[in-house]
Amino acid sequence: MNPSTPQRLQSIRGMNDILPPEAARWARLEAIAADCLRRYGYQPIRLPVVEPTPLFTRAIGAVTDIVEKEMYSFVDSLNGDELTLRPEGTAGCARAVIQHGLANQSAQRLYYMGPMFRHERPQKGRYRQFHQIGVEAFGLPGPDVDAELILLTRRLWRELGLADIRLQINSLGQPEERARHRADLIAYLEGFSARLDADAQRRLHSNPLRILDSKNPEMQDICAKAPKLLDYLGAESLAHFADLQRILRDADIDFVINPRLVRGLDYYNHGVFEWVTDNLGAQSAVCAGGRYDGLVAQLGGKPTPACGFALGVERLMALIAAHDGANAPLPPDVYLAHQGGKASRLAFDVAEKLRDAGMDARLHCGGGSFKAQMKKADSLGAAFAVIIGDDEAASGEVQLKSLRDETFGQRRMRADALSGFILDHFFNNSDTGRNNRHGGI
Ligand code: HAM
Repeated sequence: MNPSTPQRLQSIRGMNDILPPEAARWARLEAIAADCLRRYGYQPIRLPVVEPTPLFTRAIGAVTDIVEKEMYSFVDSLNGDELTLRPEGTAGCARAVIQHGLANQSAQRLYYMGPMFRHERPQKGRYRQFHQIGVEAFGLPGPDVDAELILLTRRLWRELGLADIRLQINSLGQPEERARHRADLIAYLEGFSARLDADAQRRLHSNPLRILDSKNPEMQDICAKAPKLLDYLGAESLAHFADLQRILRDADIDFVINPRLVRGLDYYNHGVFEWVTDNLGAQSAVCAGGRYDGLVAQLGGKPTPACGFALGVERLMALIAAHDGANAPLPPDVYLAHQGGKASRLAFDVAEKLRDAGMDARLHCGGGSFKAQMKKADSLGAAFAVIIGDDEAASGEVQLKSLRDETFGQRRMRADALSGFILDHFFNNSDTGRNNRHGGI
């Protein structure tokens, strides 16, 4: 290798570039989700990607996989602050709600979208930088709002045309109930100490509930027969859980109760849920969340009931791709071919007018023969070509050619009448632009 050739740099493992046309499909997914959230009264909030490390240790729990081994934590060399790239959004959202007193006056329905960071082993559906759409409701004790969040997700699956996603729910009760269950669970698991795997041994006294979530086939038998938290719930927790189920049934939402659904973050209580699919290999959870009534107080705020969920954008996009098949870039409405100085100036002007009318107008750049320019228009799948030579330009006219309808042929018309003509004749006089006309993602 030539010693002066600079070394090519690569993106970090597990942190992906989202390229076109994929990135445009992401933007449409985000727009569909935002519109769905708007109809339920949720407002966007934008939060920092970096937070003080203790926020996550306290919120997520010191003895969780995320905090123990997955956080991108570092010391800011400029001032010695201990910082972490956010592994999830709930902690930061709760911090912002407390810091700005958002929930002091009225309940807050909030959502955020953006990258999260976890140092996991990358595989299909699992990345080190991944993206969530997170939704949080503060100040409402539920279970009505819990159910509303689940209805919202069901609507989103419908609007995205996704069918094979199943809902699992569970109740984690209240801290005292969990404490009694925990004591019995530890005693039960100690009876099998020789058969517990290394992970379970390590968690036995720190986070035994998570042992029940083990994927190790050798542990399944032990986990299946372990004391179930649901059997430890008191009347209030049972009523909360029963109400949640009743609202879901009334809304015709199918679900199964999965007593082993324990979640990997410590802040949950009462109802928790996951939407899972069989179409994504090992990473089956598309969307997950639940109630976390203790978190705001635990982070120093006034006691505030809360509930939320986050969906994994990569996983959702993989499902949509599996379901859609095609992933072609959107073709332009109009391709403008032009040659000559006057023609070029008119082409710029006409293209702007087409964009004013909401169309995707692609102006040919880089010169070349009309033949080469028309070839480009064809290969992009444009609906129309607008052809402008100096001859047309001199009289303020253009040639319009349909590339999809041969009977239309090619017509000469005044440049200032062009966008009105196309809208009237081909796009139903819509003024909203062609991207809306296509729908879907
Ligand atoms: P979580 O279950 O850790 O919950 O993550 C939510 C979703 O993010 C998962 O169901 C999955 O779709 C996606 N996800 C998680 N890790 C990865 C990864 N490494 N690669 C790709 N996708 C991933 C939370 O984060 C909670 N903050 C949810 C919540 C909000 N609970 C209450 N409010």
